Amino acid sequence: MVDYQCEVLLKGGQLLQAGGNSHEERVDVAIANGRILAIAPSLSLKASQVLELDGKIISPPFVESHIHLDSALTAGEPRWNQSGTLFEGIEIWRERKETLSLEDVKQRAIATLKQQAMQGVLFVRSHADVSEKNLIALQGLLEVREAVKDWITLQVVAFPQDGIYGSPKNDELIEEALRQGADAVGGIPHYEPTREDGVASMHRVFDLAEKYDTLIDVHCDEIDDDQSRFLEVIAANAIRRGNGAKVTASHTTAFGSYNNAYAFKLMSFLDRSGINFIANPLINITLQGRTDTYPKRRGVTRVKELWQRGLNVSLGHDCVQDPWYSLGTGNMLDVASMAVHICQMTGRQEIDACYDMVTWHGAKTLHVEDEYGLEEGKPANLVVLEASDRYDAIRRRAIARYVFSRGRLIANTTPAQSQWQGIETPALA
Ligand code: FE2
Repeated sequence: MVDYQCEVLLKGGQLLQAGGNSHEERVDVAIANGRILAIAPSLSLKASQVLELDGKIISPPFVESHIHLDSALTAGEPRWNQSGTLFEGIEIWRERKETLSLEDVKQRAIATLKQQAMQGVLFVRSHADVSEKNLIALQGLLEVREAVKDWITLQVVAFPQDGIYGSPKNDELIEEALRQGADAVGGIPHYEPTREDGVASMHRVFDLAEKYDTLIDVHCDEIDDDQSRFLEVIAANAIRRGNGAKVTASHTTAFGSYNNAYAFKLMSFLDRSGINFIANPLINITLQGRTDTYPKRRGVTRVKELWQRGLNVSLGHDCVQDPWYSLGTGNMLDVASMAVHICQMTGRQEIDACYDMVTWHGAKTLHVEDEYGLEEGKPANLVVLEASDRYDAIRRRAIARYVFSRGRLIANTTPAQSQWQGIETPALA
């Protein structure tokens, strides 16, 4: 037996691997100096902390690939979204952001990130509204990115909520946001004043990404309008410029309403583009379909079909207690569970795929694969879940028993225990 020294030794867990089977073999994992030192069926090591996992799953951390931390925890301020629509949400946020301060943004963002981290989320991509005149949301989130970097990785997208061409100043504001260090450039083509403005905004986004060498993540076709067709503009730009791996189309809910003749043609261009997709099932099922009577559409993109074609699909909350969605806890298993339901991904492999969409696929979307995953030598970012496999984790929204970030235990949660106190039922003969 090799005798290593390590800080933490996890004994007898089931190590989840990307695209793996539901039943994984039991292993020990040793952590030292913030990294995964060794993974093997049985390790004999001196460790300052030994945790017996008894078959619990060891997962790479959850990835929240789409959230708005600048608006998180503001539900009801200054008023509730009574219609429940995307557009009333935008109106309410336009009022709320008049009162933003740096402290306000930072306090709510850090509170939300802690809530997420305690549930095993260690990688987050947040949009920052840069159509707000003083760029307070952006500055607040950039400061938070630095303040939390020792325990969570935060990416910030320069997102023009009111459109790049919705106001004379917005084009300059988005470029200033990139100068200040945003990780990605965003857009909202379906909310630009005209179809032509929407197309122009997409070309502008790609130009800005090239100029500042950033990722791209566009709120694209987040509407039930079957004529909202900006995804094709993104795909065409990605094909021409060869940068699909760094490009993400978020939402694309209109894709769920396209006729199949158009959708099937589009699919072949999407294959060639190699772009990433993010669906936000909690929000999509809530905000979309609001103008329908019956039958009422689900308002979610074609998650199953994109996944079946091998395109990279990940999932996000989008919102946690804000003008668009007053619920949400930051738990990515809630998101995966909703995807299983509304995307009708109930086959066993499909359920496992929904788990992968909040872990490995998210890491690919965020372009952080080099530092992500359960391999010797990688940063020790991992979650021990009170579950036996992915299906069990999603079905029961398994708690994150232990959360390790950069090799440090940053959160642990004790399972609730219920005891039957009712009348005993005699066994049937
Ligand atoms: Fe969003």
